[in-house]
Amino acid sequence: MKSYKHLFSRALAASPGRIHFAAHSHHLWPDASCEGHVASWDDAALLADRKWEKVFGEVIPESQRHVADELHLPDPTTIAFTPNTHEFLSRIFTSKWNNKPIDVLTTDGEFHAFRRQSARWEERGLIKRRFVACEPFGTFTQRYLAAMREQPAEIAFLSHVMFRTGLRFDGVEELASYASPEGTWVALDLYHSFMAMPCDFSKVADRVFLMGGGYKYAMAGENAAYLHAPRLCAAPSQNRLVRRFRRDGRQARRSRLWQGWFALPRRDVRSDRALSFQRCPAHVGARRRGHRGDQRTLRGVARNW
Ligand SMILES: Cc1ncc(COP(=O)(O)O)c(C=O)c1O
Repeated sequence: MKSYKHLFSRALAASPGRIHFAAHSHHLWPDASCEGHVASWDDAALLADRKWEKVFGEVIPESQRHVADELHLPDPTTIAFTPNTHEFLSRIFTSKWNNKPIDVLTTDGEFHAFRRQSARWEERGLIKRRFVACEPFGTFTQRYLAAMREQPAEIAFLSHVMFRTGLRFDGVEELASYASPEGTWVALDLYHSFMAMPCDFSKVADRVFLMGGGYKYAMAGENAAYLHAPRLCAAPSQNRLVRRFRRDGRQARRSRLWQGWFALPRRDVRSDRALSFQRCPAHVGARRRGHRGDQRTLRGVARNW
């Protein structure tokens, strides 16, 4: 049998007597992941503020291509990155906030990031969950689709492969047929299928959100999660987190996915005009607590809040 042990020399040397079989939970990471983390530190030390040219010009486009190839997505620029999938959940759900609870169709087999967060949202009346039981496994896909047929949810969220049991959902194409920018959003957690089995989402790429990360089967290490956002659903006007950022046509492609201070409009950063913070509760709070923060950033945020 072919051995790949030489690719894992650091993880194996760290605990020589250990025999590690976990499919779920923590994988041993290959030496390449350590080299990658160290290279990113070295880039930061060497390039300092110029590192972003490398990050956005080389590292992210290459990473987008790898993820898109793996999932058979037609356009790598629909891929965004964050440290974890929880952040993507927050972006998707806050895009749908309304003055009534969002109807969510999910399962009783979801991972903690979604299970716990969605329970808190439900307590606060922001969403209302309907659950499809994973068991009996043999009928799971049919039962999930039947629940969707009976009442198409506003957000259909489930794992492609369940983290506890390895149960696979086989109805992605039918589920995707319900999706539309103004109606149902379909989001799949791929954490346990990505790089664990062949994944071809080419037929549904324009309709489903796909998220996963590097912590498990991709063996990339910590802090690397991705989201594929279908173009129509990811329009800036629909995402409350995105809405405050770049709105000019030239940047529209980026603004669907990029958030945080990377996405601030240049014209706002450069603007000298006095701006009111009254409508920006988070930053009003920060100022009261005495954090001066980055005034350029605050100006831009306040303006577009
Ligand atoms: C099914 C599933 N989703 C998501 C995650 C990771 O969640 P997060 O990136 O929010 O830490 C895991 C990790 O264990 C998982 O098993």
